[in-house]
Amino acid sequence: MCRRLNPRVRPLLLSFFCSSILLSLLPELITAAVVTLDSIEIYNTHEFFGSLPEVYFQCKGENRTIYLPDVKKKHQLYIFKGEESWQPLTELEEKKCKRCGIYEKDSFIKPDDIFDEWEFCASDFTSPDGKYIHFKEKEFNATFLCPDCVPLEGASNHTDVPRNKEKGMHWALVLLICVLVTTFIVLGAVTAYKYWQKRKKQQEQVRFLKLFEESDDIEDELGIGPLSHVI
Ligand SMILES: *[C@@H]1O[C@H](CO)[C@@H](O)[C@H](O)[C@H]1NC(C)=O
Ligand SMILES: *[C@@H]1O[C@H](CO)[C@@H](O)[C@H](O)[C@H]1NC(C)=O
Ligand SMILES: *[C@@H]1O[C@H](CO)[C@@H](O)[C@H](O)[C@H]1NC(C)=O
Repeated sequence: MCRRLNPRVRPLLLSFFCSSILLSLLPELITAAVVTLDSIEIYNTHEFFGSLPEVYFQCKGENRTIYLPDVKKKHQLYIFKGEESWQPLTELEEKKCKRCGIYEKDSFIKPDDIFDEWEFCASDFTSPDGKYIHFKEKEFNATFLCPDCVPLEGASNHTDVPRNKEKGMHWALVLLICVLVTTFIVLGAVTAYKYWQKRKKQQEQVRFLKLFEESDDIEDELGIGPLSHVI
């Protein structure tokens, strides 16, 4: 099937294929880094009658309200795996913070209570393990996890971030392979095209010569002689 394609079209197709793979992966590289909740401990429930609180996390401008269904008791450390049904909490961009908060839903008409509301930034994740602790006195202590936020901060001087190096290597490799394969195919196509042109020329020459021979034959038959060769 491939043979039917014009040899000049194939490298085009391939480079298109390569670039579309790169483009589809690139946004992931540039934009969102997933943030999960690693652990939380609340010191207050904002509830008067000892009823169980409904704690949730939300970022401004996002529709998603993430209820933390298990977080009910004061002074108990809740540790999460990051795979819970309500995870991840949100996604952060490299140079854009989000205003997020931890709140408590009130069953009455009054507005929801606020544990805290703050600017949530990828640059907060400075520790090499991608953790960031947000602590507010008398309210809560929460640990957030975002391994991808650490490289997003770029020029941090942590020596042990093999994960990011790996990612970078992976990217360089994909790019290199794409470039190499494309180059090879273009070269191959050019060679094939040149060869094809040469053969065509040769065939034309052969045909041309044959034509001459035939005309010679005709001339001989007609007895005109070599004069007509001057044409
Ligand atoms: C939030 O949801 C409403 C409807 O439920 C929708 O119209 C709006 O575009 C959504 N906003 C965002 C930021 O997703
Ligand atoms: C908050 O929680 C983290 C992780 O559980 C812990 O390492 C840290 O000491 C706590 N901070 C405070 C002020 O309780
Ligand atoms: C980066 O390195 C400088 C010294 O070279 C050090 O003072 C600083 O704390 C380091 N920053 C981080 C985030 O490790």
